[in-house]
Amino acid sequence: MKLKTKKSKAGISGNWRKEVERVLITEEQLARRVKILAGEIERDFRGRETVVVSLLSGTVMFLADLIRHLNLPLRLDFIGVSSYGAGTESGELVFTKELRLDVRGRDVLLVDDILDTGKTMSRVLPKLRALKPRRIKVCVLLDKPSHRVEKIRADYVGFAVPDFFVVGYGLDFAERYRNLPFVGILYPHIYKEACKIVCKK
Ligand code: PRP
Repeated sequence: MKLKTKKSKAGISGNWRKEVERVLITEEQLARRVKILAGEIERDFRGRETVVVSLLSGTVMFLADLIRHLNLPLRLDFIGVSSYGAGTESGELVFTKELRLDVRGRDVLLVDDILDTGKTMSRVLPKLRALKPRRIKVCVLLDKPSHRVEKIRADYVGFAVPDFFVVGYGLDFAERYRNLPFVGILYPHIYKEACKIVCKK
């Protein structure tokens, strides 16, 4: 889905106004789109036993909203993977939690919050394929193709987003802002200042 971006402070509560420059995707847009995505997935998966594999931690809100609309016999598991190049750039990938459910012969729906460079997916997908699932479909809330370095595409995309550093609805900057109910853009000075501290670690 393409976004019509407009500069708006509407929907940003007082606490966030000094840090969030604008809302990119509103709560209402997220709710509507996630429901539509779930419908598409449900039709494609045709009632088959499904293992939803969600990547920690950015998927928390998206996953919770998506699966409540998924009328499928599904089981849920998580892979912990994080890029520890703090700040706004992707860094070295570290696995913090391995999959526990057996996916052999199963349909797998791999869920992530954002597909950016594609480095995360390009590490996770071979690991999953090695476990011999029947098939793997990739679902991401946001697709930011501008920085892609790996040849990865998602089967289900909530929104294609332009080249902004986005936070909220699970997405963080230095582990903050995950609890924003919308997807927003920080003022550049916020992440530049924080980067001076965080990126040196
Ligand atoms: C973020 C995001 C994706 C990944 C996408 O994860 O959740 O998993 O980056 O970026 P890429 O396509 O450039 O690899 P992060 O490592 O920040 O961990 P988090 O989910 O805990 O925020």
